[in-house]
Amino acid sequence: ASNAAAFEVRRHEAPLPVAERNAALADLRFGTQFTDHMARMQWVNGEGWGDRRVVPYGPLQLDPAAAVLHYAQEIFEGLKAYRWADGSVHLFRPEANAQRFNKSAHRLALPQLPVEDFIGSIEALVAVDEPWVPGTEESSLYLRPYMFASEAFLGVRPAHVIDYLLIASPVGPYFPGGIKPVSIWVAQGFHRAGPGGTGDAKCGGNYAASLLPQQQAIEAGCQQVLFLDAKEGRFLEELGGMNVFVVRRDGTIETPRLTGTILEGITRSSVIQQLEDDGRKVIEKDITLDEVRTGVESGDIAEVFACGTAAVVTPVGRLASPDFDVTINDGVAGTVTMGIRQRLTDIQYGRDEDTYGWMR
Ligand code: COI
Repeated sequence: ASNAAAFEVRRHEAPLPVAERNAALADLRFGTQFTDHMARMQWVNGEGWGDRRVVPYGPLQLDPAAAVLHYAQEIFEGLKAYRWADGSVHLFRPEANAQRFNKSAHRLALPQLPVEDFIGSIEALVAVDEPWVPGTEESSLYLRPYMFASEAFLGVRPAHVIDYLLIASPVGPYFPGGIKPVSIWVAQGFHRAGPGGTGDAKCGGNYAASLLPQQQAIEAGCQQVLFLDAKEGRFLEELGGMNVFVVRRDGTIETPRLTGTILEGITRSSVIQQLEDDGRKVIEKDITLDEVRTGVESGDIAEVFACGTAAVVTPVGRLASPDFDVTINDGVAGTVTMGIRQRLTDIQYGRDEDTYGWMR
C-alpha cells in the first residue's frame, strides 16, 4: 500500500540545471550531494500524521528548544533506489525498512508511522526526483527517511510534535577506495550498546557514540571499528554502521546472532536468505574475537565481510587491536564474499530474476 498520491508536490522553481546534475551524477561519492526535493510530514499529539508534502530541498527552520537538539529523540532509515538497464527505477525491500522504522520509533517513544505513509513518501519523492537516480555501475539513489522531536520543550518526555523528513542522495561506493578490502580495528574501552539499550534501534545516538571509537580506529590506521559486546567484552557485535560475517574454510558462514544489542540489518537478512537458498550453512551465534583471530591465523576462517545498505557487501582484509594484527585472505577480496555481493546486486540492479519479490 502506498499513500504517494496524498503528498502535495511543490516543485523547485530553480532546480539544479541538467548539465550540473549530470556532472554531479558523473562524480559520485557517498552522501555529499542531494536532490532538488525532499518529502515531509508532521505528527501532532492527538491529531496524528498530516501535512504530507514534497517541497524544494532546503534548510529547516527549527526552534532552538526543539527537543531533538537536547535529548536526541530521533531515528532514521537507509535504503536505495536502483536504475535498471531498461531505465526503470526500483526500490529494495522498502516494507522491511518501514517495519524497522516503527520498531525504532517504539524504542525511542516516537509515534508509529503507517507503512503506506513511509512508502508513499518515498514513491512521491523518487517520482519527482527521478532524473537524480544514477544509471552507472555500483551507483544508486540513497534514501534517508528520518523523524525527530521538533517540539520546543525542555522537559524530558516524548515530544508532542514530530517532524518526518525524507531526503535523497545519489551515491557511489560507501568507501572511497571502491570495493577494496577494508581494515578493522577492535574498539578499546568502548561499546556500542548494552542489554536493554538502543542497540537494535536505528537512532542517531548510536552513531554519535561510535564516532570516538571510530576515530581511534583511524588513528590506528584502520578504516572501521568493530564493537564487542558490553557484557563480557568477548563477542563480535557489529561495525560502526554494518553487520559482520565470517566464512569458514569449509564454506560455513557465521554471523553474530541478534541479541537486542545488534542492528537487524536488511542486507544481513537478505544475504542469509540467499546463502541458505543456495545450499550454504549459515549459523547465527555468539562469535568470540579470540576464535576469529585464531581462525584467521590458522586459515580456518577464510574470509570476513561487512554488509549494510550503504556498504552493500564489503570484504574485510585486516583485523587489528593493540594485541594482534592479522591479514585476512592475503588482504584481497574473497570469492565467497564477492559471490554474495554479485548475487545480491544482480537482483537489486535487475540483472537476475527477483525470485524473492524484493524489488518494488
Ligand atoms: C546504511 O547502511 O544505510 C546505514 O545506515 C549505515 C551508515 C554507515 C550509512
